[in-house]
Amino acid sequence: MRILVLNGSPKKKSDTMRLTEAFLKGLNKKQEHEVNVINVIDKKIAPCRGCFGCWQQGEGHCVYQDDQNGILDLYRNADVIIWSFPLYCYGMPSHLKAVLDRTIPLVRMKMVQEPDGTVRHVPLVDFSRIHTLVICGCGFPNWDGNFEGLRAMCNVCFGGLDMVCVPETPLLNIPEAAVVADPLLSRFEQAGEEYAATLTLSKETVAALETPMIPKEEYIRHVNGAG
Ligand SMILES: Cc1cc2nc3c(=O)[nH]c(=O)nc-3n(C[C@H](O)[C@H](O)[C@H](O)COP(=O)(O)O)c2cc1C
Repeated sequence: MRILVLNGSPKKKSDTMRLTEAFLKGLNKKQEHEVNVINVIDKKIAPCRGCFGCWQQGEGHCVYQDDQNGILDLYRNADVIIWSFPLYCYGMPSHLKAVLDRTIPLVRMKMVQEPDGTVRHVPLVDFSRIHTLVICGCGFPNWDGNFEGLRAMCNVCFGGLDMVCVPETPLLNIPEAAVVADPLLSRFEQAGEEYAATLTLSKETVAALETPMIPKEEYIRHVNGAG
């Protein structure tokens, strides 16, 4: 399988990428897959200019020449796309959102209505064969609403979607927290094995991956320095 990882953390030591790397380890356990990790922050990707030149050309590329066209080529040829990023202001970091915005060359202007009333653009590539996995870390403990906007956006943007939203991820880079972080990393590795076998994650697996490492109140106490 061709796996494209879009790493949206701007940090060298990303909390979220620790989870993603554990997942990839599991994914590659039985069979080595072709994994391409793009550190989006190191790429030149301008915001979309909204010119729709891509739709006039209809070739699946942006008329603006920067690193996005290379990403579009990898994107359309991938079997699995993993979006790995920290939650920023209840959504995707802006440099990664620019990548998502600029995937519109991969659809046409033409619209179709689904039986359920949903309207979408006709794709230029066969998206039905591409599986999407979103792995998102965040700094807050678990609370209703933190991931709500992101979940809504991903559900309409991506087909074949599995999504894992992990609270308290800064614990992953705190050596003293290894006692709770290491079991989570092991669960991500196991999840990678499951995904390699089934190309999806069971509800139980997602629930296990999203379970907070420590209770909310304890996490808040630690963050606030009260021990
Ligand atoms: C600009 C900015 C916005 C953030 N917004 C949120 C947020 O809305 N909710 C949240 O729980 N954490 C938020 N965080 C915290 C990050 O998601 C958290 O530190 C995460 O673990 C960083 O992951 P990374 O190391 O993979 O980059 C924000 C951090 C930054 C810098």
